[in-house]
Amino acid sequence: MFSRAAVRSLTASRAFSTSSRRETKVAVLGAGGGIGQPLSLLLKSDPLVSSLSLYDIRGAPGVAADVSHVDTASEVKGYAADQLDAALEGAKVVVIPAGVPRKPGMTRDDLFNTNASIVRDLAAAVGRAAPDACILIISNPVNSTVPIVAETLKKAGVYDPRKVFGVTTLDVVRAAKFVGEITDKNPTDTVITVVGGHSGPTIVPILSQTANAKGVSGEAYSKVVHRIQYGGDEVVKAKDGAGSATLSMAYAGAKFANSVLRGLNGEKGVVTPTFVKSPLFEDKGVEYFSSNVELGPNGVEKIHPIGQLTAEEEKLLEACIPELKKNIEKGKAFVSQA
Ligand code: NAD
Ligand code: LMR
Repeated sequence: MFSRAAVRSLTASRAFSTSSRRETKVAVLGAGGGIGQPLSLLLKSDPLVSSLSLYDIRGAPGVAADVSHVDTASEVKGYAADQLDAALEGAKVVVIPAGVPRKPGMTRDDLFNTNASIVRDLAAAVGRAAPDACILIISNPVNSTVPIVAETLKKAGVYDPRKVFGVTTLDVVRAAKFVGEITDKNPTDTVITVVGGHSGPTIVPILSQTANAKGVSGEAYSKVVHRIQYGGDEVVKAKDGAGSATLSMAYAGAKFANSVLRGLNGEKGVVTPTFVKSPLFEDKGVEYFSSNVELGPNGVEKIHPIGQLTAEEEKLLEACIPELKKNIEKGKAFVSQA
């Protein structure tokens, strides 16, 4: 499930002496859910995870008992609803897939009213019990939940912008798969940078910067861009009321967590798109933006510029910016008005 580079690095990490290799505890908040369960399983098979802490308001001890039988070295422990702080103690990475998913006809923003307070309360707990942890936010609407986490940590006086990440990896995974399909190329050779945010028009795939993708044009280009931007809707529709993407999201979440862990372990050159506090479009009032980010021992090491765009990509970016700004402001206002 990991990329070739990730596998090479995982293999190399096995060769680290025990003293140079970090013991990394990872906590999953929302571990009993559709994403949380397979994500916990995939994290159990990541050799960079030494200890796995599974928390949910329901079902986490059962998931933990199940996953703990997998024959990898990491320890697994499940925590019940009243054990949140204990679950977080010592965690270096906290992944948050807690919250409700979409049903057909809903936008991600329609989840705001329910998920904003869930994410805010979990972020406050991370601020209390694991203030140094990297926080990987999966719960939607990501464009708003990331600012909610940041503002909550600011209130607690423990905000480090290098350590708060919106997980946009599923957009990158979809872009590679969908473009690979139409160009008849292996998705692993079709890695496409996706910038912006994580909802419809805020998802901006940059095909022009990938050798295997830059030849896509005309109707095929418009169709595949639309499919990347609205891939989530395909799954919501197919699941017909039973939720949204869970398995592909668990794959994407584990892949991104592995990148963060490799960075924390001191591996150089780990670069992937993620939604972070970013200077790239601050002049347009957009405080958070997804672009290629180099990960390191303290989280975000370097934010890469988005590079040269085609006229079509410039247009996508133009449509992204005002929507993203609105989503970010909504998240910030939720915390400041509380
Ligand atoms: P789900 O309903 O299957 O699972 C959510 C879990 O969160 C449940 O087990 C629930 O008990 C738990 N939960 C609720 N409140 C909690 C709290 N206060 N503390 C801890 N756990 C709590 O939903 P799902 O399909 O796993 O989706 C979860 C979220 O992820 C949704 O908001 C969905 O939109 C989002 N999502 C994001 C992406 C992405 O690309 N970032 C992709 C897919 C889904
Ligand atoms: C996705 O992109 O699949 C997720 O954000 C879930 C959704 O609501 O579409």
